[in-house]
Amino acid sequence: MDTANSVETEVYINAESDIVKVRKVTRDVTKKMGFGITDITRIVTAASELARNIYLYAKNGVMTLNNITLNGKTGIELVFQDNGPGIEDVDLAMGEGYSSSKSLGLGLPGTKRLMDDMSIESISGMGTKIIIRKWKR
Ligand SMILES: Nc1ncnc2c1ncn2[C@@H]1O[C@H](COP(=O)(O)OP(=O)(O)O)[C@@H](O)[C@H]1O
Ligand SMILES: [Mg+2]
Repeated sequence: MDTANSVETEVYINAESDIVKVRKVTRDVTKKMGFGITDITRIVTAASELARNIYLYAKNGVMTLNNITLNGKTGIELVFQDNGPGIEDVDLAMGEGYSSSKSLGLGLPGTKRLMDDMSIESISGMGTKIIIRKWKR
């Protein structure tokens, strides 16, 4: 896609406490970028869900935050990458209520609703890369 990216920051996810760090860094960056309070809350919630998934299912991974611009619009792109077990069936995992851990299974579909776009690349046995974006209004 025709976007100019600049890497803002990275947060490594290796422990449950790193989910708190993900929330704090995402809140600080989105605030600095001038997002409104409602969008900040949406983006922080989405980041928290994806960071928790990394912690639960892959153990370790990284979140990268980028500033993005496209046709004069500015936004944020958050990339969550891990080398965990991967998601065998992404369409199934994106469904409401699908969980391999007897959890609510709302994390992925909920995250999609909170953001403007979401893409998932996952290879079974290799890992998962999830990209979410939100544009400033
Ligand atoms: N990073 C990941 N690596 C491997 N599997 C994942 C990852 N993220 C999500 N999944 C799989 O997708 C399913 C659905 O995720 P989610 O919608 O967040 O629901 P929940 O976490 O409540 O199970 C998880 O149960 C898990 O099987
Ligand atoms: Mg989840």
